[in-house]
Amino acid sequence: MTERPRVAVTTTVAPVVLERLREHADVVDLAELPREAWGGALAGAVAMLCSSNVPIDGEVLGLAPHLRIVAMQSVGYDNVDLGVLRARGIVLTNSRGSLVDAVADLTFALVVLAVRRLAFAMDWARSGRWMEGDAPFAHDLAGATLGLVGFGAIGRAVARRAQVAGMNVVYHTRTPRDDDDASGGNHRGFDALLAESDCVVALVPLTPRTRGMFDDAAFARMKPTATFVNAARGAVCDTGALLRALEQGTIAGAALDVTDPEPLPPGHPLYARTDVAITPHVGSATVETRTRMAMLAAQNIIAFLRDEPLLTPIVL
Ligand code: DGY
Repeated sequence: MTERPRVAVTTTVAPVVLERLREHADVVDLAELPREAWGGALAGAVAMLCSSNVPIDGEVLGLAPHLRIVAMQSVGYDNVDLGVLRARGIVLTNSRGSLVDAVADLTFALVVLAVRRLAFAMDWARSGRWMEGDAPFAHDLAGATLGLVGFGAIGRAVARRAQVAGMNVVYHTRTPRDDDDASGGNHRGFDALLAESDCVVALVPLTPRTRGMFDDAAFARMKPTATFVNAARGAVCDTGALLRALEQGTIAGAALDVTDPEPLPPGHPLYARTDVAITPHVGSATVETRTRMAMLAAQNIIAFLRDEPLLTPIVL
């Protein structure tokens, strides 16, 4: 009898995903174990199903000498040591396409939170100031300009939501797209977008080029009435620069689904600010979407084991 391949699942996935994998492989579920305890199970693994919140670095990859594929149940793979993957010829897949609507919904919710100053309004009610009078007014979404930095599938889905609310959409990508008529967005250089937008949204992947791109200089270019939303990766924004921009009134507020560091430790000054709303990286965190993401990762692994074309490969 030929030995079944071993797949290590390093994150919590729906039982239906584990069942699907078990039809093709021996599955070790490491989700409940700390990274330090993965060693033995990884030794025989040819495939790993991973999420974006645990580093898949040289140390972890070194525990898996037979590894041939890392399948991410996320779009982002900035937590994976790509150098090691390239050097060892390990294949990488992500879960693009399976989470567009959930992330776009959450991102647009953060835009509404930021533009309508809802963190401040909620604090106004909670703190009892409502008894003394109305909270100061926020601003309209309709007629305001939304600046999307990054305009892939998720950016375009956010644009559609914003356009229904009457917002004008501008976007920045390194190369202008050729479908502005279809998307209703208009390309801008990064600096022009910052200067023009009433709400600036980060939706770019974390790469050496985008790390820290929202820095003191970027915030200084924004309008003092503008707000900043980060639904990408915490490290595309310099947290110290954001805090300074808020403290000095360079910008009016922020809404963040991702932070640097992540998680943001208790007592961090951003938590205390009523001009900041923070959610704990829940962009794709719905039952349906997370199941779809994990199932796509599992299908990539199964395709690899069967020597079939991968569904969503990353070219390394
Ligand atoms: C992604 O897919 O990259 C989301 O941020 C979830 O991790």
